[in-house]
Amino acid sequence: MIVKTPPMGWNSWNTFGHDINEQLIFEIADIMADEGYLQAGYEYLVVDDCWQEMVRDRNGRLVPDRKKFPNGMKAVADYVHSKGLKFGIYSCAGQLTCEGFPGSYEHEFIDAATFAEWGVDFLKYDFCFKPKGADTACLYRRMGMALANCGRDILFSGCSWGAEETRKWAKTTGAHMWRCTGDMVDSGASIKDHAYQVDRDLKYSAMGSYADFDMMVVGMYDKGNVSSGGATTAAYKSHFTFWSHLGSPLMIGADLRNISKECKDILLNSDVIAINQDPAFWQPYEIGQIGTWNPKGNPVYCKLLASGELAIGIYNFYDDEASLSTPLDRIGLNMSTGKTLEMTEVWTGEKEIVHNGVHSTKIAPWDCKLYRCKIVDLQYGEL
Ligand code: GLA
Repeated sequence: MIVKTPPMGWNSWNTFGHDINEQLIFEIADIMADEGYLQAGYEYLVVDDCWQEMVRDRNGRLVPDRKKFPNGMKAVADYVHSKGLKFGIYSCAGQLTCEGFPGSYEHEFIDAATFAEWGVDFLKYDFCFKPKGADTACLYRRMGMALANCGRDILFSGCSWGAEETRKWAKTTGAHMWRCTGDMVDSGASIKDHAYQVDRDLKYSAMGSYADFDMMVVGMYDKGNVSSGGATTAAYKSHFTFWSHLGSPLMIGADLRNISKECKDILLNSDVIAINQDPAFWQPYEIGQIGTWNPKGNPVYCKLLASGELAIGIYNFYDDEASLSTPLDRIGLNMSTGKTLEMTEVWTGEKEIVHNGVHSTKIAPWDCKLYRCKIVDLQYGEL
């Protein structure tokens, strides 16, 4: 299975943790299909940890929790599929999952076969309770092989939290996406912390095997399983923009039944999603190193798009307004080329042309700007 752009979907963990059941999944499926999420690209509906019974059946197969999922997982998958969505499930490379349910260690092939039989399309594969001495990369490779041979296309989402330099071996495992950081919680600090970590992973992220910055907390406002103070709407907007611009998979974690209009609009912004899903998947590069132009070292990234345009994002994960400048020679577009940028800010639609080789702007606390830029002739007359 080849996955040509970063996967998009919804995952139960951030809001619901243990508190999942068939009815909830059906309701989320209805909303994803009926309220624009599926159309925007969010196609995977993923049930995270805590869907299982504590013991396997006598044939060694995983058993869905009989109270939460009384009709089994095939019935859930069938419903999700009937809505045009794809169905995801969770297991773990260790002996137990992070919440203590049976893991897939030494059951990789039987579990992959079971998932295929149920109609699963996506497996998130966690990293708790690894037996001492087991080789991490080999455990992920084993499940990668099991999935690639189970007779069904199942997207493999490795979740080893960036541990043991995941980036260096993730692409040997068959993982279509791989977590490069620890768990997000719902706070501005966690958004910032993740945003500042992922630079080291970008050069390992590639079409078909994407660095996953973790499920998003956009719209949670301190409600749910990973609540930790919540964040402002501006911070959620920057979070979504950063994940999109830098090519992370986009997995929603909020309760879609109760999301605010502002955050729904953030998650459904098709211009931002188009940059995430750009078919070339060229690597973004940092152009905002600390210096006189950018005193605090706010992240500024540029990415070449398949159309020849550039996507430039400027992020302010601070409580003060940022006033910063980006010389275009940092992106390689020196004035000697006779070219400059016509920039359209994707959230506001505002257009501007850079005339003097330097783009300058102010960004409100925790806000960001994301520009789609056309390379145009420099008009010397206007200098
Ligand atoms: C780990 C993962 C989370 C979530 C939980 C479930 O912490 O990183 O994303 O899946 O386990 O127990």
